[in-house]
Amino acid sequence: MNLVFLGPPGAGKGTMATRLADDLGVPHISTGDIFRAAVANATELGKQVKAIMESGGLVPDELTIALVEERLKESDTAKGYILDGFPRTIPQAEALDGFASIDHAVRFVLEEAELIKRLSGRRVHKPSGRTYHVEFNPPKVAGKDDLTGEPLIQRPDDQEESIRNRLEVYEEQTAPLVSYYADKGTMVTVDAAPKPDDVYASLKTALGL
Ligand code: AP5
Repeated sequence: MNLVFLGPPGAGKGTMATRLADDLGVPHISTGDIFRAAVANATELGKQVKAIMESGGLVPDELTIALVEERLKESDTAKGYILDGFPRTIPQAEALDGFASIDHAVRFVLEEAELIKRLSGRRVHKPSGRTYHVEFNPPKVAGKDDLTGEPLIQRPDDQEESIRNRLEVYEEQTAPLVSYYADKGTMVTVDAAPKPDDVYASLKTALGL
C-alpha cells in the first residue's frame, strides 16, 4: 500500500508512520528526516536547507521532488511505502502523481493549541530519531534516551517563533492538499487528539487493516 500522511506540524504523523511502517514492513520515508540527516552530516544538501528548516520555511519544490523521485526508485519500496511530510505543496502533489500511484492520503486532524503543546514538549534522540514528549510520552529518565541513555535534544524548529511560522506555512501551502486528495476520493481522515494507541487503532480501521 502506498500512503501519504498529511497534517499540520505536531499532529503525530511521524509517530504513527514509524509504527505502521514497522507493522507493514514497508519504509517510512520522511522528507524532514532526510533533510535533518543531511544537515547533521553537513552535506551539500544539508548546507542548502539548514537555514530554511530552522526558520520553519519550506525547502524548494524542485529539490524536494527530485529527492523523493529518486528515493521511490529504491527496491525497498516494492511492497509499498509511507510518505511522511511529502507532498507539502500542490506542485509537489502534482509531480508525485507523475511518478507514483498513491492508494490513500491520510489526513491527521488536531487543533492548534494541542499542536503547539506537542511541538514545544517534543524531545528527540538525534542518532536514532526516537521521539518523546516531556508530558505525553516521557523517557524513563528525564532528558535521556530509553535505549542508549544518550541525551535528548529539542529540534531547532521546535522553538516558539519557528513553530508559529511552520503553522502559517502549513495553512498557506499545505492545507490546500486536503481538497486535492478529497477530490480524488482517496483521502481518509483520522482524529489525532486521542492517546497514541487509540489514534493508531483509528488509523488501521480507516485503512481497512
Ligand atoms: P517535518 O520533519 O516533516 O516536520 P513537520 O511536518 O513539521 O512534522 P513534525 O515532525 O513536526 O510533526 P509530526 O506530525 O511528525 O509529529 P510527531 O509524530 O513528531 O519537516 C521539517 C522541515 O523540513 C519543514 O519545516 C521543512 O523545512 C522541511 N521539509 C520537510 N518536508 C518538506 C517538503 N515536502 N517540502 C519542503 N520542505 C520540507 O509528534 C509530535 C509530538 O507529539 C511528539 O513529541 C510525540 O511524542 C507527541 N505525540 C504524537 N502523537 C501523540 C498523541 N496521540 N498524543 C500525545 N502526544 C503525541
